[in-house]
Amino acid sequence: MENVKNSAIETQCVHAGTKPDPNGAVVTPIYQTSTFKFKNADHGARLFAGEEQGYIYTRLGNPTVDAMEDAVATIEKGGYKAIGCGTGMAAVHTLVGSVVGAGDHIVASKAIYGCSAVLLQSIMPKFNIHTTFVDTENLEAVKAAIQPNTKLIFVETPGNPTIVISDIQEIAKIAKAAGAKLAVDNTFASPILQSPLELGADFVIHSMTKFLNGHADVVAGIIITKNEEDYNNCRHIMSHFGGTIDPFNSFLVHRGLKTLKIRVEQQQKNAQIVAEYLEKHPKVDKVVYPGLKSHPQYELGKKQMRGPGSMITFELKGGLEAGKKMMDSVKLVQLAVSLGGIESLIQHPASMTHAHMGAEARQAAGITDGLVRLAVGIENVDDIIADLEQGLK
Ligand SMILES: Cc1ncc(COP(=O)(O)O)c(C=O)c1O
Repeated sequence: MENVKNSAIETQCVHAGTKPDPNGAVVTPIYQTSTFKFKNADHGARLFAGEEQGYIYTRLGNPTVDAMEDAVATIEKGGYKAIGCGTGMAAVHTLVGSVVGAGDHIVASKAIYGCSAVLLQSIMPKFNIHTTFVDTENLEAVKAAIQPNTKLIFVETPGNPTIVISDIQEIAKIAKAAGAKLAVDNTFASPILQSPLELGADFVIHSMTKFLNGHADVVAGIIITKNEEDYNNCRHIMSHFGGTIDPFNSFLVHRGLKTLKIRVEQQQKNAQIVAEYLEKHPKVDKVVYPGLKSHPQYELGKKQMRGPGSMITFELKGGLEAGKKMMDSVKLVQLAVSLGGIESLIQHPASMTHAHMGAEARQAAGITDGLVRLAVGIENVDDIIADLEQGLK
């Protein structure tokens, strides 16, 4: 719906992307088709030549996918357009493929999703693309890592899994001075809590598997660009790398988006209470949550984000063994990777999501063996706390 461009974000969540339907459908239907029939040979040729708008083949475009992409580009403030991808990782590698080439250099956050770390650290060097990992919360470290061939700064904030917060506005200035693009993985915050494009980033990516879909039943990703040139470039790369999202998953994500704001707000409300409970618990050694004054970047979080979110990490006094015992004891909170869904999930980054990046890289990123990650859902907060309490016992 074009008329929600200036509406509040909760209105946009409900209506953005939905186009008038010839049959009056209130939501965009699932165009579960791989290909589209041309009116005649000239029409097909005009579509391929870009002389006329229309659908050709679902890897290149599909009405259900378009609707979801338009919705995300609307709610991710400052976005020009979006490119839906089959997974969050497809979004990361499509972005990298569109910004850098052989001989180029990337600066990336040390605290980053494990598979993004593996892609940059072990796979991209095969194509002569090298990455320096730095604590992006330390601006001097970011500046010092810049090389003459740096083309991309890739920041995850809050970072997975240590919830460290990096200053997007200041890093955007460093990127600009270096002639590099800044991409922010905004998965942990969601567009409800943080708008990196308005803070100076050139690209935002999301694993839509998380908050945007929100129901733990889809894997999907997206890239949102600030300008047309970057969009065209990314779209071209995505069409040829082939990491397309399919119409059914697009439909599910678009449905999930409608409740994004109320889900994120409820999760955040619960998380603040859970974090305060954990911080006071005698068996807990340390809690990291941007809504606690003890968070190292508490003030920056308040400045840059519209709320602290719902991701918490903590360490128990008994270390890894105590953490494992707790994860095996919880009943309502499920022992599973992923986050951002309506259900609370708990996991152990060192042996699960961040296992493949190796002990050395984990240590450098501050991912200790005792660290437990909790993604808080929308269940009643008393039930979540009762479950954590019996698990801690
Ligand atoms: C911050 C972040 N970025 C990217 C990804 C990759 O997304 P996907 O699993 O949808 O490929 C994840 C997955 O956990 C993530 O947490």
